[in-house]
Order: sequence, then structure tokens, then C-alpha cells
Amino acid sequence: MFTVKNNVDLQQKTEILVVGIFNQNQQTQGLMAEIDEALGHELLTFIKEGDIAVKAKQVSKLHTFGKLGAKRLFFVGLGKKEKLTEQDLKESFGLLFKAVQQAKLQEVSIALETFLTDNLDTYDAAHALSEAWPLATYKFEDYKKKSNEPEKQLEHVIVYADGDEKELQAALTVGYTYGKATNSARTLVNLPGNMLTATDLANYAAELAERYHFELEILEKEDMEKLGMGALLAVNKGSVEPPKMIVLKHQGKEQWDDVIGLVGKGITFDTGGYSLKPKDGIVGMKTDMAGAASVLGAMEIIGELKPEQNVVAVIPSTDNMINGEALKPDDVITSMSGKTIEVLNTDAEGRLALADAVTYAKHHGANYLVDVATLTGGVIIALGMHTTGAMTNNEEWFEQVREASMEEGEPMWQLPIFEKDKERVRGSKVADLNNSPGREGHAIMGGAFIGEFAEDTPWVHLDIAGTSEAKANHALGPEGATGVMVRTLATLVERFEAK
Ligand code: BES
Ligand code: ZN
Ligand code: ZN
Repeated sequence: MFTVKNNVDLQQKTEILVVGIFNQNQQTQGLMAEIDEALGHELLTFIKEGDIAVKAKQVSKLHTFGKLGAKRLFFVGLGKKEKLTEQDLKESFGLLFKAVQQAKLQEVSIALETFLTDNLDTYDAAHALSEAWPLATYKFEDYKKKSNEPEKQLEHVIVYADGDEKELQAALTVGYTYGKATNSARTLVNLPGNMLTATDLANYAAELAERYHFELEILEKEDMEKLGMGALLAVNKGSVEPPKMIVLKHQGKEQWDDVIGLVGKGITFDTGGYSLKPKDGIVGMKTDMAGAASVLGAMEIIGELKPEQNVVAVIPSTDNMINGEALKPDDVITSMSGKTIEVLNTDAEGRLALADAVTYAKHHGANYLVDVATLTGGVIIALGMHTTGAMTNNEEWFEQVREASMEEGEPMWQLPIFEKDKERVRGSKVADLNNSPGREGHAIMGGAFIGEFAEDTPWVHLDIAGTSEAKANHALGPEGATGVMVRTLATLVERFEAK
């Protein structure tokens, strides 16, 4: 997959050599000077004439006419050196791999040293590169008769880089694992509701458990009844598909303490229930288990890298359907926590499922909680499609989550939960809580509701209704599921410090 070599050999016969090129006069230094010389000192002319773009996010191809060992050079434009962030670098590599894929190349060589800046060292660049490869070239195998014929794929990347070979290989493996696991999550999200039921999701988790030796627990409907999980059961009432509460445990420490609970909304299809979604709003609701996919993707990374941390993943899963037995507006239900809930809107089902999941995560010893959910359309109105909405009851814990998200280039922005907001979810005349206090600030209402079940346990709620899907092809993936928060959650676990 990756071969690390310490010195670039410009005479080495190969199809493609990739170099990064900044928007400045570094063309006369180091490797670039050697390339320039081999090309008859025409590099600057090529840049001036526009044959090689030095602007960020541009890839130019140049035939070497036998002047170098490589048949072609791929120049990855990087813009101004001092401005290049790790995310820019990842996206630049993403565009490179898309170009490589389009050219149906099976092998490329990359001169990593040409991508480095004062802030980004060889290992950062190796991580960015190896993560970008699977992300950028991801494709969901569709169901068209003619497609999915095996195409030539990139199989081998030769990385020329200075540095410790073992450490470089490790950075490359970690990055690649992060990218691959994100793609696994994308595939789960892209699967239609008839092909990914709660049972399928549970089977998928069971496969992960077997592969990575996680402890596995799948609660069936009868188990949930015994435990009093009235909130998740309520969502499932209108369905012919059995619900599942999926639990995976990774014990990375001797003692089961300082446990991180990762909770993911696993609604495999959301019709809205009797508060039925309009015909346009219902299309696409197969993605309502993206939170569950993020958690399972993160567990894949955790399984591969085995951090010395304790993690419990909890996924409440069902579809949200209608039949004669289905949950109705005005119904009052009792959650596992004992808190009663007046259901004003059956389309606010995610928070019901998560209520019992959060309680159950605490039951399994979670001391720190993160829930990830496609919870509200409101978060899209508030923050758009590129920013995850975050809410918390503990600023220090949120800071750890936010730092992980910044490291991974998955932006989030905090929305407040003030006392007045809590009062609104507690404002039912007949029950402890109501699941839908109205449209005003409704992303916050979703968070505030789940917060009632986190209680005093440090907790962060991530509303990914906008960020779990890309409307168009982008540098690090195609249109469709993004796998957002897989990498943030995994990084959070890797970097976690108990406070
Ligand atoms: N799954 C939806 C949220 C959603 C909307 C995800 C659009 C992705 C794209 C959620 O269950 C829902 O329906 N939320 C309601 C909440 C409301 C009834 C309080 C919403 O956002 O309208
Ligand atoms: Zn809904
Ligand atoms: Zn939903």
C-alpha cells in the first residue's frame, strides 16, 4: 500500500512523480531546483505561462519527455506557504487523488518534502496524505445494472520523505485507518432503509465486535421492556422491524473507570410518524442513522488502534413508522430514567431514542458522554451544512471535543442551553418533559431535552443534521454521506484526559 523511501531518486522509472508547489520563489531550492535543472530551467516559464498552477487546490500535469525518470509530473498547487493549514493540505491531497483516480493510475510516487511548511512536518503531511486517499476516492457501490465494474485503482503509493521510516509508516497507517473507517460510516449512511434495518445495524456492530474483540450487547425488545426503555420502545411502536439497543465496549485500561460514552442516533428511516413529514421532506431520511454510523466508524478506528481508554458505544436503533399501534401526538410515555414525556411531535423521535440510550450509557458506567445525531432541521437553518451544532453541560469537556474536531477539520459551533431553554422542555402540563416545545430555537430544544437525561454527567450533544451529508462532490469525497464526526470521535478518544 505505502512504501517509504528516504531519498527522492529523480531518475527512478515511474509513471508519475507528485510534487507540491507553493506560490513563491522556492523553485530554485532543493528538489525543485533539481527538477528545474532537469527540465532545462523552464519551471518558471511553465508557471508564468500557466502550465503549472501554483494556486491552492489546483493539480497540473506535465510530461517530462524522458528528462526525468517519471513519465509525468503532477504539480499540486499549494498557494502561500504561510497560509497552508493541515486541512488545506488534506484537501489538496484529496484533489490529487481524484486526479490520480481519473487517470486510472495504479501507482504514484510523492515527494513529501515539497509539501512541508514551518507548521506542518513530515508526519503531519503523511497523516494528511494517507487519510485523503481513501476519503477522496470513496465511491458508494450503487445498484445500477451496469455500474460498479471493477476499474483500475490506485494500489501503491511510494512516499519519499525524510524521517524515521517506522514512524512514517505508523503515521501513514493511522491516517489510512481514519479515512477507511470514515468510508465505512459513509456506506452505512448511504444504504437505503430497506437494506439497513435496526437488525442489520446490530449485525454490523456484531461483526465489528468479533473483528476487534469488543464486548457486545444487543438488547432485544423484551430486554428493553424489562429495563423500562419506554422512550425507544415508543418510537418503535409503529414498526414491523424489531428495535435494537446496540452496545459495544472497548476496555483499554485495567479498571473500568473514566469511561467515554459515545451515543449515536440510529433511526434507519424517519417518516416522522403520525406527525408525518411532507413528501419532499421524507426523501433522504434513510440517513437518519448517521450518528450511529459516526460512532461505529469511530469504534472501527478504536478497534484498529486500540487506545488505552475505556469506551462504551450505545446505539438506539429502530425506524420511525406508522401503523395502528404507532405512537401518537399527546401520548405520554415513561423513559428508562423514570422521567415521563409528553409526545407533542412524533417527528422529534431522535431525542426519545437518545434519552434511553444516554441513560443506558450511564448505566454502563459512562462518565463522559458525547451524543451524535441528525436531530433537527433547525441546526441547518442556524449553522448551514458545514458546521455541526454543539451543546453541552460542561465547558471543559466541550473543549476537549472541540479541540479534536479542529484537529480533524470538522468544524463545530456551540449553541447555548440556558435555564429558560430548560424550562421550555420541562414545560409540559401532564409530564416531566415534552419532546417538542415549538419551533423557536428548535436545535437547542433537541439538545436541552437530551441534556435532561445526561443530568450531571459531562455531556456534549452534536447535531449533524447538516454536516452528515454533502450536497455536491468535494475535495475529500463525493456527494452524499460525509462520515462526519468519525474522525473527531476517534481523536477525542485518543487524546482524552480525565479531569
Ligand atoms: N431526522 C430529523 C431531522 C433532520 C432534518 C435530519 C433534516 C436531516 C435533515 C428529526 O427527527 C426531525 O424530524 N426533527 C424535527 C424536530 C421537530 C419536530 C421538533 C425537525 O427538525 O423538524
Ligand atoms: Zn423526526
Ligand atoms: Zn429523525
